[in-house]
Parts: sequence; C-alpha cells; structure tokens
Amino acid sequence: MARNTKYFLSGIVLVALLAGGLAACAQTAEQAWLGRAGYHGPSDVSLFTKALGPGVLEKTAEIEIYREIRSLRLASSGDSFGSIDGRIVLGTAHEVQRAFPELPVPGDLEPDGYWLMWEQHNGHPLLAVTGGDERGVLYGAFAVLRTLAEGGDLHFKGLREHPAMPIRWVDEWDNPDGSIERGYAGRSIFFEGGNVRQDLAPVAEYARLLASVGINGCNINNVNAAPQLLDTEHLKQLAPIADAMRPWGVRLALSVDIASPKKIGGLSTFDPLDPAVKAWWTAKVNEIYALIPDFAGFTVKADSEGQAGPASYGRTPADAANTLAAALEPHGGIVLYRAFVYNHHADWRDPKADRARAAYDIFHPLDGKFAANVIIQTKEGPIDFQAREPVSPLFAGLRQTNQAMELEVTQEYTGQQRHLVYLAPMWKQVLDFDLRAEDRSTPVKEIIAGKSFSRPLGGMVAVSGVGRDAWLGSPLAMTNLYAFGRLAWNPNLSPEEIAAEWTRQTISIDPEVVGTVTKMLMHSWPAYENYTGPLGMQTLTDITGSHYGPNIESSERNGWGMWHNADKDGVGMDRSVATGTGYAGQYPAEVAKMYESAATTPDELLLFFHHVPYTYRLHSGKTVIQHIYDSHYEGAAQAAEFAREWATLEGRIDPKLYEDVRGRLVYQAGHAIVWRDAIVQYFLKLSGIPDEKGRAGHYPGRLEAEDARLTGYKVIDVTPWEDASGGKAISCAETVCKADWIWSGQPGRYNIAVQYFDLAGGAAHFALKVNGKPADAWAANATLPSTRPHGDNSTRRATHDVELKPGDLLRVEGAPDGADPATLDYIEVVP
Ligand code: GCU
Repeated sequence: MARNTKYFLSGIVLVALLAGGLAACAQTAEQAWLGRAGYHGPSDVSLFTKALGPGVLEKTAEIEIYREIRSLRLASSGDSFGSIDGRIVLGTAHEVQRAFPELPVPGDLEPDGYWLMWEQHNGHPLLAVTGGDERGVLYGAFAVLRTLAEGGDLHFKGLREHPAMPIRWVDEWDNPDGSIERGYAGRSIFFEGGNVRQDLAPVAEYARLLASVGINGCNINNVNAAPQLLDTEHLKQLAPIADAMRPWGVRLALSVDIASPKKIGGLSTFDPLDPAVKAWWTAKVNEIYALIPDFAGFTVKADSEGQAGPASYGRTPADAANTLAAALEPHGGIVLYRAFVYNHHADWRDPKADRARAAYDIFHPLDGKFAANVIIQTKEGPIDFQAREPVSPLFAGLRQTNQAMELEVTQEYTGQQRHLVYLAPMWKQVLDFDLRAEDRSTPVKEIIAGKSFSRPLGGMVAVSGVGRDAWLGSPLAMTNLYAFGRLAWNPNLSPEEIAAEWTRQTISIDPEVVGTVTKMLMHSWPAYENYTGPLGMQTLTDITGSHYGPNIESSERNGWGMWHNADKDGVGMDRSVATGTGYAGQYPAEVAKMYESAATTPDELLLFFHHVPYTYRLHSGKTVIQHIYDSHYEGAAQAAEFAREWATLEGRIDPKLYEDVRGRLVYQAGHAIVWRDAIVQYFLKLSGIPDEKGRAGHYPGRLEAEDARLTGYKVIDVTPWEDASGGKAISCAETVCKADWIWSGQPGRYNIAVQYFDLAGGAAHFALKVNGKPADAWAANATLPSTRPHGDNSTRRATHDVELKPGDLLRVEGAPDGADPATLDYIEVVP
C-alpha cells in the first residue's frame, strides 16, 4: 500500500511541520507521558485522518493523531496496516453531524467535552471524534491516543466526557531573569536575562502536554510578579508565547503586581478605587488584548509576604479584584485573586495569633462582593502546601463567590522532586472532603466545580514549576502534573487508576510493571508524611530557608506563623474555639464540632488542632510520642522498600529510566534516615520519654565521626543540632583528612554506610578504606540546598558486602573541594 496515497490530508505540510518541530526542540512532550511506551506493534487503527473544520485546534487534533499513526507505522516497520481501510474524522458536533447525518451525535455536548464513536460506515470502520467545541475535539483526540497508548480498545460506543470544572490552569512561578521560584527542574522555558526566550519550541511542547490532560490555561510568571512584564516592550515579547500555546487550546495568563500603576505607570498611587488607576488598568488590559486576543486573565497576590496590596489604601481585596475585573470583562478575561493573604510578622507570643485563620477572616466577610469574572483562588489547606493540612474552611465560607483550589505540583514541601511523593492521594482526600456547608453534602470537588452553590465559574490551579531539565527534573514527579490534569478533568477518578494510566503510557503496559509502579506511587505520600511531620504537625522542615531538610525549631518563635508549639510537656497548636485560636470554628457546624475536641479529631490532624501532652493517647491506642517514633521508623523503612521494589523492574523497562530512578530512590532512602533521626532524637531529648521499642537514641553499628581518630579533621557543631547524629560532625580544612576506627565486632560481611554532608559550592571526594585497601570512592557532587552542613545535604553512601574481622582499620578519607570541606557525620556498619 502506498503510504502517501492513503493519507488524505495536508500530508506534505504536516510532515514538514512535524520534522521541523521535533528537530528544533530537544525538550519534547514525548519525554513525558506522550512517549507512548505502552504501545506494542500495530493495531486496527485507521490510517485516514481528517479534521472536518478549518480551526486551528482541530488541525492540531489532526496532527496529533497523524503523528501518532505515523510513528506507530515507523515503529512497526515490516508490519502492514494493509487490512485497515477506515478513517478517523474530527470535528465539532455540528460538523460531524453534517458530514455523517446517520451518526447519533449528541446535540448537547458541553464546552471542552467530547463524544467518541466507532462505527461501520459504508462498509468501512469510522472513528468519529466529536467535540462540544473545538477544544473538545482536541481533548477527544488525546483521549483516543491515551487509549491507544495504553493498549486499550478503540471501538468506542459513544464514550462521552466533559470536564468537571471550567478553570484548569497551571501557574508557573517564573521570573524574567529565567529563575523559577520553588522550581526544581532547571531554568525557565519562558524567560532568560529579563526577556522572553527566542526558542519557544519547549513552550509549544509544554502546551501539548497540558492539552493532553485537559489543562486550558497557563499563567507563566511568578505570583511575586515583576511589574516590568506589563510594559509595552515585554507585552510584545509575550505575544509569541501565547501564539506557541494557542494551537493546543492553552490560554496565556499573567500574574500582576497590584502596585503596577505606580511602579511602572507613572501614577502617584495604585489605590484601586482611584479613577486614574482604573483608567490605567483599562488601558493596559486593552493593550494586552490588542496583542493577545485570547488572553485569559490575571492572577493576583496582594497584601501578602511583602507584596503590595489594597490594604495600603484601606481598600479590600474585592476593591482590587473588581478594578482588574472591570478592565478584563469586556474581553472575556478573568481575575484569579489569591486568598493566600496573611501577616508574616505575626506575634508568636500571642496565643490567639494564627496564620491558619487569615484567609477566612479576610475573605469570608467579602462574600458576594466580587465581580462575576473574579475567582478566589485558595490553597488546598489554610497554611502552605504542607504534607498534611486540613481542608481550607474558606471553601465553605464563600457561597456567592467563584472559587478555585490551588495546589502544588512542584514539590516545594514534599521532597523537591528528589523524593518520590505522588500527591494525587492527598489531593483526592481534599477533593472528597465534605465540608457540610448548610448541613448538606458539599464536598470540595463540588464547591470548586461551582455545583454546591451554583457558581458559573470555578476550578483547579496547580503551581507547576516546569523547567528546562526534563520538565520536572525527575521522571516519576511527572505523575503529579499528569494527575493534576486528570483530577481537574474528573475529580472522581481514583489516584490508583491515574497512576496506572500514567505508567502504562509512560513506562510499560506489562501488568506487573504497572502494579509495582502504582504500588510505589500510592505508598509514597504516606511514607513521606511518616518520616517528615506526622499528626498534622506540618512538615518539620527548614521553614525560613530551603523548605527541604529537617529543621524543627525554624518554624517557632518567628512571625511566619507555622508554629507547632513543641515544648518539654507537649506539642501541637490549640486551634479550638474554647481554649485556642478559634480556627476550628471557621468550619461549618458539623466539621467544626469534630475538630473542636481532641477526642473527635482524626489522629492525622490532632496536632494541627490541639496541644496535647506527649503521653496523650491517639485513637490508634499509641501515645503521641510513641507515634512520632514509630511513624518515623516506619516511613524510613517504607522509603527503603521503594528502592527494593524498583529493583524488581530491572531488565523490564527502559534501562536509562531504570538507572535514573534507581539512583533517586537510593538517595531518598538515605535522606529518609536523616529525617527520621533528626525528628526522633529531637523529640527524645525534648520529651525525655524513651522509645518503648528501644530504637530512639540507639543506633546499632554506628560509629560517630567525632569519636574517630582524626588526622586533619576537626570536630564541629551542626546547626540545627538534630540534623547530625549527636549534633556533631567533622570538617576538613586541609588537602586530605582522615577518620579512623578500629572494628571490634564479629567477623563477617557487612554493609557500610557513610553519612556525609554534600555541600553546595564544590565536589569533595571521599574514599572508604579497610586496612588501607580501597573499598569505595565517590564525589560529593549532587545538587542540594545549603552551603553549610545541614539536613538539606546530609547524604548516605552505602558500600555493600565488605569483609571485616576484629581489629580491622576502617578509614574514611575526605578531600575538600571549593566550598565543600568533606564534612562527615558517621559511619554505620551493619550485617
Ligand atoms: C510559599 C512559597 C513562596 C510563595 C508563596 C505563595 O510560601 O514558599 O515561594 O511565594 O508560597 O504561594 O505566594
């Protein structure tokens, strides 16, 4: 069969487009889940593909399907598609109905929705991809491709889908200089050196990826917005970004600084009610729409964490939001005004001060005062993307206001992509949580979809943080972006099913591989919560710094308000109405009642709502302190298990992927021990209550660096103390330093772990020797936060199967490099 006679579309143009696009772009959507790992060999796919309408989105849909069939055909060269003589047609309901009057096309397809139908037509197979609108056609095409990639059945019998909510956006926190706030995957795909990048091919690929899971908006700049992006020169540069995303139905949005009229507009005020300010915004918005006719709108962070806001003029968020909304409204634009507004100079001595209260206290009184094209964008929990928080009560506190839920794909507080943490199970709990507003069922997913309170707009927004390093840096972290899109489309999907879908498309359709990866993903968030901060204590991380490693007291005694109030007698924030900050009373009655009392608060949130003694008994029957010990040992053991589970996939999946993820999981298992030991030794010291299982404070086989015979090395204090075993480490200021221990255990074969600090600013070298003979050597060259020894960069190197007998000399040699002084914490010798 002559291939080029079979395609009845703009074949030449498309081939050129595809070849050119892929050659110019090293970073592609195929590197994520559009790689179609699952497909093996030919299937009964029609070769003819045709968009019925002239629109750009339909054209994209056609290209996507064409590209796929073409790549499958190439992938299965030698095999023939000869038996297939059908076609795939793509169009809106109106177009499909007109072309195929006998098809039962639903007359009421929703916007962005689709209907997939496989039929015999004049004796040939016909797959009709029908959209409620053009975007729906594109989403339908991606649904077909997803099914194909998963090895599924394309014989759709009128499969009808539509998204649960209209707003499905990603927010990128990119700065014009090319850095990304809380991004862990390299530099921006949008900006560099103060300007928009010339090479926007990755932007188009990103839009393709987003569209494949139904995401329809992308805000490309940091919420801590650089005002200069609104000047005329930059707006002109932004238009090509919108052009690059448009073929995939992804609309461009911008974060704006509410003080822009003053900062870049030459006005003496940014008071949102000042007529000159209003006029400035109107003119600015008109200028934007002249360049970007489908501009989506603005996101606003104001009066928060140092950002200017309407409070400077005694105005409310509604005043500010409505001024912007009025300028955007004639063009169909919207305002996503963030409820993340709080005082970061709170008085930690005031028992009533509570950051968790802020959003509700500020926004609830304004319910009903926001314009119709304003959406209040609220983080899933009342604090800040912690590993565990209750659902924000504001979702139930705004009933005459459009709402969106903001969550984080970028793993700011959840391991920064170095740890495997699949967040969909956490999001799902939030989505399913029934706030019981008006004493009836009002799960968060229905509130943000606009259903509970009959709101026309609503949705989900994820802070994504993609960069030039393989999108999110780590292959398995892509599950979070994928899951976000899928849940925003359908919050009733299960996290397991989403994980399995992703795995089949990205890694393999082998059921055992799918089972293993899905299991690892599903266990990853509970494991992380276990070895970081359980019982709703929040993530006990370095809150004023990296947000990565442990630093338990960093959240205390400062104005940021993320206190857990641990002292020698007890731990937790009292947020009850009766004796605490009153936060629990912000929920509707039924939920407020549950959280008001420690007895009815679920264990996992106990310390978020109540201050209790360490000996307080949980519903599980354990004391709080024993739970802290147990969960940390359990979490670290779970993390070690991930590496073992992944090892079972060797030889069954792409070797490069295998090796990449293997290295990450080994690192994670080591860092989970850092977390475990920091928190366990901290609470052991603070509470003075021993671990009834005898583990806390006892480390079999551990030999402290400060107890070794040292040559060149000097003993140092590590800050915070809990981030090093015993609070101390050794640091080298010479060319090479040595730490020696004499082995006094039983003869045998052992695994030796070396715990060292891999500081930023150099790649120190380490060697492990037994009786002078090298057993291992490595460079401390990972990219980790912090330039001083800290839980951020404490790293474990394991050397397996080393033969030892009593009297053997164990030595670690450290050679500093640059600002990295080859700091060592301990070694651990275990059978
Ligand atoms: C977190 C994050 C900041 C960010 C802020 C926000 O606090 O650490 O980097 O600016 O959230 O959501 O605005």
